[in-house]
Amino acid sequence: MKHTKNGICIFDFGSQYTLLISRKLRELGYYNEVHPYNIKDLSKLHYNVKGIILSGGPRSVTSETYPSCSNFILNSNTPVLGICYGMQLLTKISGGVVSEEGKSEYGKAEIFWQNINQDYADAFMDALPTKQTVWMSHGDHISQIPNDYLPIAVSSSQAIAAIIHKTKAMIGLQFHPEVYHTEKGTTILENFSQKICNLNKEKINQRTLDSSLSYIKSLVKKGKVLVGFSGGIDSTVTSVLLNKALGESCVTSVLIDHGFMRKNEVEQIISLGKKLNIKIEVIDAKETFLNRIQKISDPEEKRKTIGKTFIETFEKFSCKNGPFTHLGQGTLYPDIIESSHNGYGAKKIKSHHNVGGLPDVLSLQLVEPLKYMFKDEVRKIAKLLEIPDDIINRHPFPGPGLAIRIPGEVTDKKIKLLQDADNIFIQALKDKGFYSKVWQAGTILLPIKSVGVMGDKRTYQYTCVLRAVESVDAMTADVFDLPTKFLSEVSNSIIQKVRGINRVLYDTTSKPPATIEWE
Ligand code: XMP
Repeated sequence: MKHTKNGICIFDFGSQYTLLISRKLRELGYYNEVHPYNIKDLSKLHYNVKGIILSGGPRSVTSETYPSCSNFILNSNTPVLGICYGMQLLTKISGGVVSEEGKSEYGKAEIFWQNINQDYADAFMDALPTKQTVWMSHGDHISQIPNDYLPIAVSSSQAIAAIIHKTKAMIGLQFHPEVYHTEKGTTILENFSQKICNLNKEKINQRTLDSSLSYIKSLVKKGKVLVGFSGGIDSTVTSVLLNKALGESCVTSVLIDHGFMRKNEVEQIISLGKKLNIKIEVIDAKETFLNRIQKISDPEEKRKTIGKTFIETFEKFSCKNGPFTHLGQGTLYPDIIESSHNGYGAKKIKSHHNVGGLPDVLSLQLVEPLKYMFKDEVRKIAKLLEIPDDIINRHPFPGPGLAIRIPGEVTDKKIKLLQDADNIFIQALKDKGFYSKVWQAGTILLPIKSVGVMGDKRTYQYTCVLRAVESVDAMTADVFDLPTKFLSEVSNSIIQKVRGINRVLYDTTSKPPATIEWE
């Protein structure tokens, strides 16, 4: 059947980045949908599939069993783009060889495009530089290209970085064009959508906002919503959207003070609420949270316990001050992907407090209007909602707060040390004009002590780590290049002012291989 809408179908093999492909295409204006990798019948979809993308994924085609898609994609004339695992699968099902060892690449890599005489290759590589920086995240590699395919790019470590079918629009990429840190990644997806799949663009932003408001209205109807408010952009936008959709009398915004906030943050959040005309109820739950996690050092257990305590605190408040029918949360798509809740087999990286800590039975129904969005999309919605710039540009801060920036056991004393050190770092970033350039910054207090010397005396104190990254959507991140002079000034200031820290480090790891938070 012919439909009026055309789009791309993304086959999800469980990559952390699957929804990022979707979102990038959406941002470019191309309609697309994500479906499980084993979808069989594309004709049942309500749009014409003009292109197929096979996502990456955590599995290996070198295993005895591995997720595969029906061979129909090889035999149809629909253009196909296989990304990472998707390319390895294309290789395997087309008769090539994928091997496990020798050429794994994680993070930044250089690739070199090679011109070949094939019409689709020319269209696909249009406006790409010969040499390009890309983001890789793979253990397996292609050791033998299928007979019907040709290589079109290699990486500096001689791994095959891209292949194309000799006559068809079937392309494989070993790297991830969807992640922000791949140079010209957007051009690659644009070329595939426009020049290979012949798709036209659609406009999205106001429509996204309108559909969020209708989603809230249709879900909540005449109910009452309790919304978790942490002062960050996600919960602020959620709260403003809920108030706009349902009216003030149906929405109560609650700030749970778990005691892992940044220095003076509770007061700042209350004044932020006033600025936005949102009344905020503050629940002091410091003792409960600290008691619950005091003896826990395992990061997952810590995260889950915090998540659970959040929900219990909301439920308790709801019983006392309700009745409420819904719990509003500022959950974003990365929270769901990393907590492995997208359903098609993405590996769990960490349980985000608002996803992994949820009980099986919740007395309040969840309303999460941002759950298919990424941070930068939320910032755009915030602009449309006329939320002030200083809130839009606030660095993200995780729901479990400083508790996940204190690896190992959390104590009152450690929280205080970290609050003071972090405050010095963040203030210095603001004073020197770096804050708005950095995507997210924070301080981590390590559970190790080291020897130092201060005022002729031996010290034996904690070490803290400064972390500042550039990112767009938190799915990938690179280290922010802070000048050494600035870092040593901050380091001196922390050591002089915070009794209990005698060593300061700078974290120089990108994501991947690390994550932004330490736990
Ligand atoms: P990672 O550490 O996964 O962090 O690279 C990605 C982004 O998510 C934030 N983050 C959280 N936010 N609840 C949140 O609200 C959480 O449990 C959580 N864990 C990580 C993190 O600060 C970064 O911006």
